[in-house]
Amino acid sequence: MATAKKARAAKADTAVRVRRVRAADIPQVIGLDTRVTKLAKAEYWNDVFRRYGKQRLQERFFLVAEGRTDGADAHVLGFIIGEIRAWEFGSTPCGWVFALSVEPEMRLQSVATELFEAISNEFKKAGVSKMRTMVARDAQLPMLFFRSEGMMAGPYIQLEKDLD
Ligand SMILES: CC(C)(COP(=O)(O)OP(=O)(O)OC[C@H]1O[C@@H](n2cnc3c(N)ncnc32)[C@H](O)[C@@H]1OP(=O)(O)O)[C@@H](O)C(=O)NCCC(=O)NCCS
Repeated sequence: MATAKKARAAKADTAVRVRRVRAADIPQVIGLDTRVTKLAKAEYWNDVFRRYGKQRLQERFFLVAEGRTDGADAHVLGFIIGEIRAWEFGSTPCGWVFALSVEPEMRLQSVATELFEAISNEFKKAGVSKMRTMVARDAQLPMLFFRSEGMMAGPYIQLEKDLD
């Protein structure tokens, strides 16, 4: 690991804890997502929590990175959500990551790396040996991040059409 990255990782290690989401985190998840996407979707996040934070927890992982900044109470600095899906598109079971976000002022301090490693470990513990995600072509940050974690183009092509 490069020295600068090591230093940032060490800093994050002391400040950040990755754990499963709790109901009390959801307003902070909504706040973070609203700041990042400029679109408030409280109903969506409450539904995601019901589906991914409370049931089938052996295959669904909604994890948050919690840390203290500037002496404030511990709060949500980022989150990652994924699940194990089996036999969709003819695929053997694999781990899918479908959401990842880090508080803008906490970026480049390995928070996403910690979240990614934590969900990778959950997938491995659950018995799968492959993980996947999808990235918009113009979403530079997620692309840079996932590539840095060793993710490569996979064997599927996404197709779509407008419905009149
Ligand atoms: C993508 C994102 C999660 C990365 O979070 P992060 O905590 O800043 O990432 P890390 O600090 O763990 O970065 C790990 C590596 O990713 C790459 N990377 C991350 N941000 C980068 C940037 N701004 N420029 C270049 N490389 C970057 C680097 O290789 C970095 O390693 P390095 O620090 O040794 O250079 C964050 O930028 C984000 O939340 N973006 C917007 C949200 C979003 O679009 N989410 C995806 C939709 S589901």
